[in-house]
Amino acid sequence: MSALPTLIRAEDVLSERFTAGQARAMDLKYGNEELLYGLDLLGVAGPFSRLSPWELQDVNGERLIMAASYAATPFGEMHPDLTGFMTEFMQKNRAMTLPQQSVSPWRAALGANLVALLASQLPSHKDSQVFFCSSGTEAVEGALKFAKASRPSASYFISFRGAYHGKTYGSLSLTPNPEYQDIFRPLVPGALHSPYGDLEALRTLLRRVGPKNVAAIIVEPIQGEGGVIIPPAEFLPGIGELCREHGIICIADEIQTGLGRTGHWFESAAQGLDPDIITLAKPLGGGLSAVGATIARHGIYKKMLGGLSSKRHSNTFGGGALSMAVGLRSLELLVEQNLPERSRQLGAQGLERLNRIKGRYPGLLQDVRGQGLLLAMQFHPVVGTLPLPGAVKELAYEATAILAMRELHRSGVIANLSLSSKRTVRLSPALNMPEELFGELMDRVDDFADRNPSAGKLLTNTPPELLARLTAFAATKPKKRTPSDG
Ligand SMILES: Cc1ncc(COP(=O)(O)O)c(C=O)c1O
Repeated sequence: MSALPTLIRAEDVLSERFTAGQARAMDLKYGNEELLYGLDLLGVAGPFSRLSPWELQDVNGERLIMAASYAATPFGEMHPDLTGFMTEFMQKNRAMTLPQQSVSPWRAALGANLVALLASQLPSHKDSQVFFCSSGTEAVEGALKFAKASRPSASYFISFRGAYHGKTYGSLSLTPNPEYQDIFRPLVPGALHSPYGDLEALRTLLRRVGPKNVAAIIVEPIQGEGGVIIPPAEFLPGIGELCREHGIICIADEIQTGLGRTGHWFESAAQGLDPDIITLAKPLGGGLSAVGATIARHGIYKKMLGGLSSKRHSNTFGGGALSMAVGLRSLELLVEQNLPERSRQLGAQGLERLNRIKGRYPGLLQDVRGQGLLLAMQFHPVVGTLPLPGAVKELAYEATAILAMRELHRSGVIANLSLSSKRTVRLSPALNMPEELFGELMDRVDDFADRNPSAGKLLTNTPPELLARLTAFAATKPKKRTPSDG
């Protein structure tokens, strides 16, 4: 029998005896090496440690303001309002932790609260039911299966160009981005895409394939990963009408927009859509745990999970007590602190500041967009209008957001890329960020813009040797990497 290895002890990680250097080396070695190597080259890979719920420190002691996390940290890092309750939960909870085969008080309470909250905005949902899971993409998979079970003879699903619904096979098939899809073809059959915001194009597509053949239309009320794209006012209500007219299931993917991020509890409802199914995830986990939910009308829920078919869709961890407790407390905090309203107020200030920067530096920012605390800066390409071959242009576009993210980082701001928009960087800070700190965050974005008054500056502010390493990284085949200074 071979001897067991000496394992890294959990206590050593907690007490930071397991050092930042060890973490970096091992995360590259055993994790997604290429991604971390690229981020490490840019100097944005961390590891970071928490100074406050909204501020991090890098390994050099620099203080950074957190405006990233892909809209999944409504209260910042480990806010005591959430962690205090979870500590109590760990000490006092007596309910089963994984109650797959039994009633759970935690799942019951969160399910009831989600439906009550949804019905307060959309009364037609008063009898809706919830299926819990552990990620956004899984919530979307559930939604697609609910829709298909309701319309089993319909073989098409429609999503929109620029959409992002996740990266498992079903959700990926409805995320029309060649970077994520191409190598995995053939995808789930029947996925169709229509231009976002264009009702006439959707009507034409429906006529072409026949509405009775369409199981569902899935839409983000605002496209997040697409770069914060807000559709025209008539778009969502128009989708609702088309779905009602033809009996097509309407799915609103609120994984990024829902529960306050865009200034409303449910962005679809705010825009006049009453969807049949709503998917939620990110903020429901409070930035602490993985919680996803698919909320469906009673009749739709029963079609997939009725009678002896009630095991037709299931998972091991969805509805577990730990994640339900996090979800329950998170929802409570969002409501108690009226964070959608706060998101609206801070977001309006942020957008105004971004618009002023765009006015000052029109050669840097092509556009700024935002609603609530989902803010986007779309940059001009770093290579200007140079006529370049397609592949080089693609690379230059990608480099634009990456270099902007690096420069923002140098100004002390952790920002997000947009997974389906190459020249857009997003700011999605915690909804409860103190106003003064939010002001400082925007001051730092000002500083970033002052240092990069045009998109070309993003390139010339990057040291040539780093540019060479980044180009080599982009051009070479994957190989074993070592951390940039290792
Ligand atoms: C609208 C939307 N749907 C689905 C997802 C996928 O969620 P997850 O990354 O938790 O699988 C995302 C993630 O960014 C999203 O923004």
